[in-house]
Amino acid sequence: MSISIENPIVYPVSQITAPNRIALAPMTNTQSHDDGRLSDDEAKWLKQRIDGGFGTIITAGAYVDALGKSWNGQIGIHNHATKESFTPLTEAFRKGNSVGIIQLFHGGMRAMYDKNTNQSPSGGKNSRGETIARKMDIDEIHSAINAHIEAAYRSKQAGFHGVEIHGAHGYLIHQFLSSETNKRTDLWGGSTKHRERFLLQIVRGIREKCGSDFVVGVRLSPEDANWFHGIDFDACLDLSCRLAEDEGVDYIHISLWDAFKAADKYPEKGPAISHFKKALPKITPLMTAGKIWSGQDAKDILSYGADVLALGRVAIAHPNWVNEYLNNDLYNPTKPPFSISHLENAGLNHSFIEYMRKWKGFVGNND
Ligand SMILES: Cc1cc2nc3c(=O)[nH]c(=O)nc-3n(C[C@H](O)[C@H](O)[C@H](O)COP(=O)(O)O)c2cc1C
Repeated sequence: MSISIENPIVYPVSQITAPNRIALAPMTNTQSHDDGRLSDDEAKWLKQRIDGGFGTIITAGAYVDALGKSWNGQIGIHNHATKESFTPLTEAFRKGNSVGIIQLFHGGMRAMYDKNTNQSPSGGKNSRGETIARKMDIDEIHSAINAHIEAAYRSKQAGFHGVEIHGAHGYLIHQFLSSETNKRTDLWGGSTKHRERFLLQIVRGIREKCGSDFVVGVRLSPEDANWFHGIDFDACLDLSCRLAEDEGVDYIHISLWDAFKAADKYPEKGPAISHFKKALPKITPLMTAGKIWSGQDAKDILSYGADVLALGRVAIAHPNWVNEYLNNDLYNPTKPPFSISHLENAGLNHSFIEYMRKWKGFVGNND
């Protein structure tokens, strides 16, 4: 039987069920307080997507430690005050029947501080070769692992259904996984096995501390893209399978930026996402994101093997995407550029609209 968007999805370890196959992709939106507390604006933005029918909602990356913060207005889950600020949102998830997941984030060398404060596996440099971060010592590595575990526990106490561990896009976990940014020669770097240790200890610690009735997902970049490098497609495939088979992960989220694309390593061998579907245990949901805009796009990516589709930019502009699709499976929402009034109606505050100007062509020039 073929799978449809309107079919529920069970996250298999926690046994928590989302009512459909569409997720809101994690998206930093700079709408919250500078101490990391969730603001009314960001809560409103997320609640609009609950009302719009999204079965799973993943928040923006929330820093697990003050040292991992990367943007002003970013949410955090690093202390008691931030934890408390999420309660009205998690109540809305339960009322609205959406599965609420918070993304756990640490910027590492790409945090917002200077080269003496930003942390990295082996000392970070930017593309101009300038030093932007210092090398973490062993105590700091343990402390960063612990920060992720404690943040997950706080998330559970705040009422989230689960967490997504952000292991993609060149942030701290990715920096450990990458052969380009992890040049350590101890147990935390060098071989693939050593480079994976940081992520695996986070996953194990979270499962142990939060129990099995809590969704634990992992987001990974499967190959080099943009500014983040040093990941091999097959190593990522293998890691994903072990996370699903041995580590009690509820879903694997592959971030491709273009869900239709073939792997750069295997340009002739069909969509990258299909390789993951073939390799992963049948029971483990495979989530992906990237350039899914219309109802037809979503159906195509499901047919490539994804189980859950995370919508990014289209969901910024079209908060009712899921309800619209359920009324008309040929739903083809309007494309950028969007006027400021359109984006305000979609729940974006001034700061988020300004942030979206970084995404070329998204915000119209004429308002
Ligand atoms: C404004 C914006 C903020 C984003 N912030 C995050 C983030 O906090 N964490 C993350 O894993 N990905 C982040 N992403 C990537 C998205 O989750 C998604 O993978 C990407 O936008 C591709 O999907 P799309 O083509 O549907 O936009 C962000 C993307 C956008 C557009």
